Amino acid sequence: MVSDPELIKQILDTRFGSFADRRPPAIDVRSSFSYILPALTGRDWERMHRNYKRVFTLKNELKIVPKINDCCDKLIETWNKRITDKDNEIDIEQSLRVLILDTMAWTVFGTRVSPEFTEGTRRLTQCLLPMYLIVTLFPKLTEKISRAIKLCVHTHDKYFLDYLNREITQRDRNGSRGNDFLQLFMDLRKHNSFGEPLVQSVVDDNVIPDEDRLTEQENVWQLFTFPFWNFRSMFTALGFGLYELAVNPDIQDRLRNEINTTIGGGGDGCGDDDNASDTIDVNSLDKLVYLEAFLLEVHRKYPVFYRLSRSVSKDTVLGSTGSTTTTGIMMPKNQIVNIPVHALHHNSSHYPEPELFDPDRFMPENLSSNINPYTYLAYGIGPRQCIAKRFSQMQLKLVLCRLIRKYEFYRLIDTTVPPVYHNNPEAVTVSPIKLGIKYVA
Ligand code: HEM
Repeated sequence: MVSDPELIKQILDTRFGSFADRRPPAIDVRSSFSYILPALTGRDWERMHRNYKRVFTLKNELKIVPKINDCCDKLIETWNKRITDKDNEIDIEQSLRVLILDTMAWTVFGTRVSPEFTEGTRRLTQCLLPMYLIVTLFPKLTEKISRAIKLCVHTHDKYFLDYLNREITQRDRNGSRGNDFLQLFMDLRKHNSFGEPLVQSVVDDNVIPDEDRLTEQENVWQLFTFPFWNFRSMFTALGFGLYELAVNPDIQDRLRNEINTTIGGGGDGCGDDDNASDTIDVNSLDKLVYLEAFLLEVHRKYPVFYRLSRSVSKDTVLGSTGSTTTTGIMMPKNQIVNIPVHALHHNSSHYPEPELFDPDRFMPENLSSNINPYTYLAYGIGPRQCIAKRFSQMQLKLVLCRLIRKYEFYRLIDTTVPPVYHNNPEAVTVSPIKLGIKYVA
């Protein structure tokens, strides 16, 4: 476990060459859960990382944003039907589950959420997350039970595999295209599903080198990154975000004020006719400085991944190269190094009064002088940081703006304070959160 910011900087950033992977390479479980970017190592990671960079460009992300607005419309419609007396109790966990599944179905897979999609995601995440952990944490055991793992995976990823194969073939056959991540990954292939060469490229006019282009199988597998990495992270950030709004009405008022004065209010509040008309222009989100600080504070207090890990690719002495911190600690090849994100974020020497929810820590005037970037690891840092950081922040800001403009969230007698974390070995997740909700006066 390493928690010294200078050493963290070396591991995650400046000496990346020795710490590029999350686990030692070489376990052959090529499958939907082990061939996604977070699990890849060495050259496989480098090649796939170049491809993800081609997908997660600002231009591509902006094309997908209207679909997030669509999904917010749907949630607002549902809430409006339930708020009968200008006051209501909402099971936040349930509402967010629907919103996030719908957003994932629509922006990634080009379909709307359905009971089959929900069940497919449940099966996938419940079985495959433990599998991913086994592969990451117990490589030797993985080698022994790899056949059993493959078998288990194939029974649980069937819904998505079938859906993707069907949808990809259909788009190839009809020449139709979607405004979604599936399409962006499809455009990275060398051949379409009928074996015909693809000339199209997602990177504007740039031709993708042949060696980078995806096979059919790799294309399908990359789409599994989303149910694994998207669902849990968005769920945690939004769930705890809404909770903090409800228990901190002054922060909520300040946020609403910023949103209303910067990009305008959200309809008349009666809820019948104004849900679709208050779509937000995503470019205006950059002006919301307090919203940005609020989200950074949500991620600080409730980091989705409470530790990061790296494996050592060659014997390395930590702190020995051009560093002020010479530890003399030898890290042998294949050693796993963990970085305790949650503990760093809750350490009072980095963040005074760490249990206090205080977005002002992250206001521009306090940010650069008070916070060492290597103590803030909500999205990781360095070449292996979250590839979707900008997109997720955009998505979170958009959803929060839409909801805060229209609704007021408040604490109920049976709102659990402080909130309870789910008992999950890898990530912090939300337990049921009940909040009051009413139209903004
Ligand atoms: C609230 C939203 C999110 C948070 C807080 C978050 C956080 C993180 C963190 C902490 C890491 C590990 C970084 C490291 O090891 O240094 C990571 C990696 C990653 N995230 Fe996210 N994430 C979020 C949303 C997403 C979404 C929506 C996607 C969609 C695909 C995504 C895709 C990935 C991928 C592919 C990696 C692995 C990158 C690599 O290994 O090169 N994340 N994320």
